[in-house]
Amino acid sequence: MSQARHLAGQRCWVVGASSGIGAALASELLARGARVAISARREDRLEDVSRGRMVVVPYDVTDAQGTARAADAVRERLGGIDLVVWSAGTWQQFDALDWDREAFARHVEVNLLGLNNLLAAVLPSMVTDRAGHLAGIASVAGYRGLAGAEAYGATKAAQLNLLEALRASLSQRRIRVTTISPGFVRTEMTEANSFPMPFLIDPDRAAHAIADGLERGDHEIVFPLRMALLMKTASVLPVRVWDAVAARLARARMS
Ligand SMILES: NC(=O)c1ccc[n+]([C@@H]2O[C@H](COP(=O)([O-])OP(=O)(O)OC[C@H]3O[C@@H](n4cnc5c(N)ncnc54)[C@H](OP(=O)(O)O)[C@@H]3O)[C@@H](O)[C@H]2O)c1
Repeated sequence: MSQARHLAGQRCWVVGASSGIGAALASELLARGARVAISARREDRLEDVSRGRMVVVPYDVTDAQGTARAADAVRERLGGIDLVVWSAGTWQQFDALDWDREAFARHVEVNLLGLNNLLAAVLPSMVTDRAGHLAGIASVAGYRGLAGAEAYGATKAAQLNLLEALRASLSQRRIRVTTISPGFVRTEMTEANSFPMPFLIDPDRAAHAIADGLERGDHEIVFPLRMALLMKTASVLPVRVWDAVAARLARARMS
């Protein structure tokens, strides 16, 4: 299941491609010879990314029926789907001392239930065909609990677990599943962040790392390297040690 596979000629659908990592990845896939369909809500931004070179299918990931219609439209216009990349997402700084039920629910609806809608729309035909590749952009933020990321981090941890479980279940049907965990990337999502973002990279670099990992057949793509090393180390720290680190980070953020 980990054999290398070139992207040239593959029919790829990138969901969440009107800006940021998804937009850069769509262009990178195209440059590597793939045929590309892109989705998100903002049609004008999708057209800017496409510049007439991609299939544009706008939809809202929180709409299950809309997702099914979008998947049908992509399958029809590309003649099938070999690779689906989930890049849609939302992030908002969270204040646990002033619990915002709606903000938390919005993260779950977009980041987790949106992915659920997509899986329901693309998996049945992949299972029937015994072929296909799912790649989900989660985050290193899902590795450990971080103050201010209660809503976002919870959905990212869930995505990591979901993608890992799917990799095992779907291996029986020769369907590949790739977990993508970026560190900080300079996009609309991070532009309002007021806290330090170590090892911040541009979306083009992120897209390059993702496309390289997909072609190598990696099960997991984590970048940039220094952030991967930092957060992989954090992920194995004992809870008491992590709690001390995280509390210090929380205090630094509030001061
Ligand atoms: N930037 C980072 O530092 C970083 C780090 C780790 C992981 N990530 C993850 O990488 C992925 C891409 O994020 P990004 O940084 O590229 O941010 P971004 O530029 O804000 O892109 C988010 C994308 O998701 C789409 N989206 C949001 N809500 C949607 C909805 N209801 N329906 C359809 N599309 C929706 C947006 O399109 P519309 O608004 O047009 O709908 C946009 O195309 C996310 O999953 C994010 O969590 C980002």
